[in-house]
Amino acid sequence: MKIFLTIYVLAIVCVVSIFGFRGSTSKKEPLEVFPDMDRQARYKPQAENSFFADGRNDRPVPANTVARGNYLNYDEVFSADFEDTVLGNSAYLYGKNPDGSFYQGFPVEPTNELMLKGQQKFNIFCAACHGEAGDGNGVTKPYGVLAANYHDDRLRGVEDGYLYDVISNGKGLMFGLKDRLTPEERWAIVLYVRALQRSQNAEAAELSETKRTELGI
Ligand code: HEC
Repeated sequence: MKIFLTIYVLAIVCVVSIFGFRGSTSKKEPLEVFPDMDRQARYKPQAENSFFADGRNDRPVPANTVARGNYLNYDEVFSADFEDTVLGNSAYLYGKNPDGSFYQGFPVEPTNELMLKGQQKFNIFCAACHGEAGDGNGVTKPYGVLAANYHDDRLRGVEDGYLYDVISNGKGLMFGLKDRLTPEERWAIVLYVRALQRSQNAEAAELSETKRTELGI
């Protein structure tokens, strides 16, 4: 009984000392358990700093940093002769016509160089789920990610702008990637997806004589 009473009184003292003083003000300095965490030596944004040659605290972004956000290059944006050539170009920026329907075609020049860029970005951002051939057999498949196979008639028939929109905003279980890929990179990927679709859907007769002999068909 004695032990029970002691525990009971202690519990009441604890509860009152923790909750009893809530809301009351005190003129005493607050207790700092970790003063070095409360008051850290740190650099403030946009402040001066004599350590760096340019005198700025904020450091410029290192070269080859993965871009997030939009297509704008901040050095260009703040230069006097900056001109935004794609502002308001809804086909390029959103893959849509001004009336909201999906754009068919490429608002960028579909060059071989762009296609190679698309291949590189596809292998980084899409192949894990969709597979390198775009058949939906990515390394994540055994873990239950059922990514679309590009080689079905529905996806062969959709507009180029639709593919661009899926890359940008996602679809169903797939997340959008517009914060990681510039519009140009997204168009490059669309171009590469088209090439993948063609690679699985061509007739031998469409190849040149030399190519056919080379492949033995
Ligand atoms: C994390 C896995 C994942 C990644 C990464 C991913 N996808 Fe997907 N994607 C999916 C899944 C899952 C679906 C099926 C979505 C649904 O219908 O619910 C899908 C669907 C699609 C579709 C078909 C949309 C439709 O109308 O059915 C396209 C096209 C597509 N993805 C393209 C891409 C491209 C291009 C990339 C790279 C830029 C990419 N995806 C990256 C998982 C992924």
